[in-house]
Amino acid sequence: ARAALWGGRFAGGPSRELEALSRSTHFDWQLAPYDLAGSRAHARVLSRAGLLTDADLERLLAGIDALEADVAAGVFVADPGDEDVHSALERGLVERLGPELGGRLRAGRSRNDQIATLGRMYLRDHASTIAGLVGDLVDAIVEQARTHLGATMPGRTHLQHAQPVLLSHHLLAHAWPLVRDLERLRDFDARTGSESPYGSGALAGSSLGLDPLAVAADLGFTGSAPNSIDGTAARDTTAEFAFVTAMIGIDVSRFAEEVIVWATKEFDFVRLHDGYSTGSSIMPQKKNPDIAELARGKAGRLVGNLTGLMTTLKALPLAYNRDLQEDKEPVFDSAETLEVLLPAFTGMVATLGFNTERMAELAPQGFSLATDVAEWLVREGVPFRDAHEISGACVRLCEERGIELWDLTDEDLTSVSEHLTPGVREVLSVEGSIASRDGRGGTAQVRVAEQIEEIDARLAAV
Ligand code: ARG
Repeated sequence: ARAALWGGRFAGGPSRELEALSRSTHFDWQLAPYDLAGSRAHARVLSRAGLLTDADLERLLAGIDALEADVAAGVFVADPGDEDVHSALERGLVERLGPELGGRLRAGRSRNDQIATLGRMYLRDHASTIAGLVGDLVDAIVEQARTHLGATMPGRTHLQHAQPVLLSHHLLAHAWPLVRDLERLRDFDARTGSESPYGSGALAGSSLGLDPLAVAADLGFTGSAPNSIDGTAARDTTAEFAFVTAMIGIDVSRFAEEVIVWATKEFDFVRLHDGYSTGSSIMPQKKNPDIAELARGKAGRLVGNLTGLMTTLKALPLAYNRDLQEDKEPVFDSAETLEVLLPAFTGMVATLGFNTERMAELAPQGFSLATDVAEWLVREGVPFRDAHEISGACVRLCEERGIELWDLTDEDLTSVSEHLTPGVREVLSVEGSIASRDGRGGTAQVRVAEQIEEIDARLAAV
């Protein structure tokens, strides 16, 4: 039988089947650096509480350093008998320092408060990496918006032509959700970083006079858990990480879907850079938007991770239950997924070529200036209800004749309504329509330029 951390009351070792099921080292090994940082902090509070002599503290810290170097070099690895990263690293320490000193470190801590703390440390680090990558994507979108500030396109609702908009306005509409996602990551970090679970013990806290706040500060937290049961059992911030990463995936997937559609022959709005598109093994002419498609697909995976984690947590009684071991793989996967997806997606966006002539040509089609006619009538004193009818009648007339709104003669216009004087022609252009929507948040160029400033300010504040 191997030396499990809990061997004392057992006559024999665990069965092979139990070990196979129970083992988590193949995925929690990436927590090793956090586990070792936790051990250093824990050794220091033990010493401060008078439970380790200065000499023992020195030897322990040196042993942890040596073990850390061996882990980093791949010299120390998990053994099939190690249940998890915590057990393995304790074994490593005992091997280096002997059972007497190596065994002192377990006093006053439990794998339950350890894993709760280390999981949060991992998530905070990855949230920071992901925030940098989301920031890069926002920058790439803003740069495209800046480059194409005057370009126009058909704005759509229900995927039907609705009203003309600036291409940059549409692009920035993809940047804003990502700006809010960045703010969500910041909020997640502040909330998660304010309550370090270390010191909660198995569930009831520590009797050894250890200072949880000192450990918290050592590990980069701003405070410690106010309740030791909550400290070991709560995974709401883990779920929050899973939600924010899923939301980022979903926000990216909505842009991805448009790139996929825009790259079709029928739309012909964008051209993908060779370095960020793929070919076909059989059809020589193909150029496929695989990055955008993978983004769309990965969003499903991220939602799956969130759903799986929430399902594990639902109705789980307090405090620690082994079910909680299942909290790691979904969020590790969400972090890793975004960390490979975002750089590729950002590269695709940064190198996207826009066919602005084609977009401009389509902008006024599908009678997308009909609302402008109705609003022009309102400014002339006509009630909107009537104005809507009059403009609709113009569209019907045009459809019958197979012409566009601006092809209607002065006589055609007055035949529809006496209110339709030739002055209406001032809004029968894409530029006039766009320039007129100059209220805050509107598509007028001055407002779009302001938005870019506003995004820069929001990014500077996260
Ligand atoms: N490996 C466990 C986890 O990931 C932590 C260990 C707690 N195990 C226990 N039997 N109390 O959640």
